[in-house]
Amino acid sequence: MNRFLLADKDEKTRQDLDLTLKEDLKNKLEHHFLEEKDHLYILELLKKREEKARIEEELSLLFNVSKHLTHLYDLSKMYKIVILYLVNQINVKKGLIGTIKEGSKTIDIKSSEGLNNDQLGTAINIKNNSYFNDFILPKILEKRTVLDNQVYRHKDRYFGLAEESVLIVPFRINDREINVLCLFDKIDQVFSAYDLKSVSTVSCLCSISIDKVAHYQELQELFLEVTSALSSAIDTADQYTFGHSSRVAQYAVFIAEKLNFSKEKRDKIYLAGLFHDIGKIGISLEILHKPGNLTAEEFDKVKEHPVKSANILRSIKKLANIIPAIMFHHERFSGGGYPQGLSGEDIPLMARVLCLADAFDAMVSDRPYRKKMSLKEAFSQVEVCSGKQFDPTIAKVFTNFALEVEDLHNSFFSSRDI
Ligand SMILES: [Fe+2]
Repeated sequence: MNRFLLADKDEKTRQDLDLTLKEDLKNKLEHHFLEEKDHLYILELLKKREEKARIEEELSLLFNVSKHLTHLYDLSKMYKIVILYLVNQINVKKGLIGTIKEGSKTIDIKSSEGLNNDQLGTAINIKNNSYFNDFILPKILEKRTVLDNQVYRHKDRYFGLAEESVLIVPFRINDREINVLCLFDKIDQVFSAYDLKSVSTVSCLCSISIDKVAHYQELQELFLEVTSALSSAIDTADQYTFGHSSRVAQYAVFIAEKLNFSKEKRDKIYLAGLFHDIGKIGISLEILHKPGNLTAEEFDKVKEHPVKSANILRSIKKLANIIPAIMFHHERFSGGGYPQGLSGEDIPLMARVLCLADAFDAMVSDRPYRKKMSLKEAFSQVEVCSGKQFDPTIAKVFTNFALEVEDLHNSFFSSRDI
């Protein structure tokens, strides 16, 4: 039974009413209580009711699919939802959504329902199935739909016929590929023109969504390229911190993964790493490169950079949500940091992660006022500062995965030496 249809109760009531009406009609006809014109009128009424129910089903399918597709920017999730709804709503045993690349005779399956892994290649035994290659594929290549309720008719001519009925709709066709929605084995009935119409409409929704996701991904890539370029421009201006922002971003993501941050939060902390020191643009290199101790006045200037970073980013809408991480990355877990002297969990979690990532990269890098530490010394320092400068939970996670941190650190420098 289709779980996406109208409420079962409503459906049952409608079916009961139809049965009563039919029964009533039969009785009246048998007892000659009904005239021919009444008979036709009631039949027409029943037909209209069936049509109404069918339209409601179709609208329900479109509503459910479009409701999900509007909010999705992940194609694999989108494919999964589309094929799940279609298999249930059209009431078939199995279905798949896939792509046929130019010149290929195979369907690259994106998502399927009712097929196990072994069946994926044999559902229509794509590679070695003459029914598919000789009968279905030419139609798809001509951008035609396929609706075949009598697959057995072809058994004399083609082999590999595992299905009883097939409905295939090609969509989003271009020079490089054809996407297809395929449904197999309609349960209890045959595929109707209405099914074809519903699947065709869903395929249009899919086309729009695939285009939407592609544009979104292009924008995301462009955004990341621009932000990376901007961040490396900042680092390039300072020979001592060359690559620092990028490394901090990667250490921060590493910690975020170990803390099971969501993908969205990992993306955020990556950007926060890239831009955490952007406010240093306003500080003279004389202060930043000073070999000896800073005067109190000079140190006050340096301490302004988290707030300056936040102010620069405030005007960029897409980066506004990383401001807390940046603003508080120099706070200390035990208090006494800057700019606000927050402590413990009053410091945003992302800022605590960034604090460790930033400090660790600084420890293992040469600075004008000191030589870099070895990795071993830096890990010891993280342990010493746990609960003081660093959140102890984050420090523990970091040192527990010291070997992986070491690999990550080595990857930064081996690629530069080539
Ligand atoms: Fe900083």
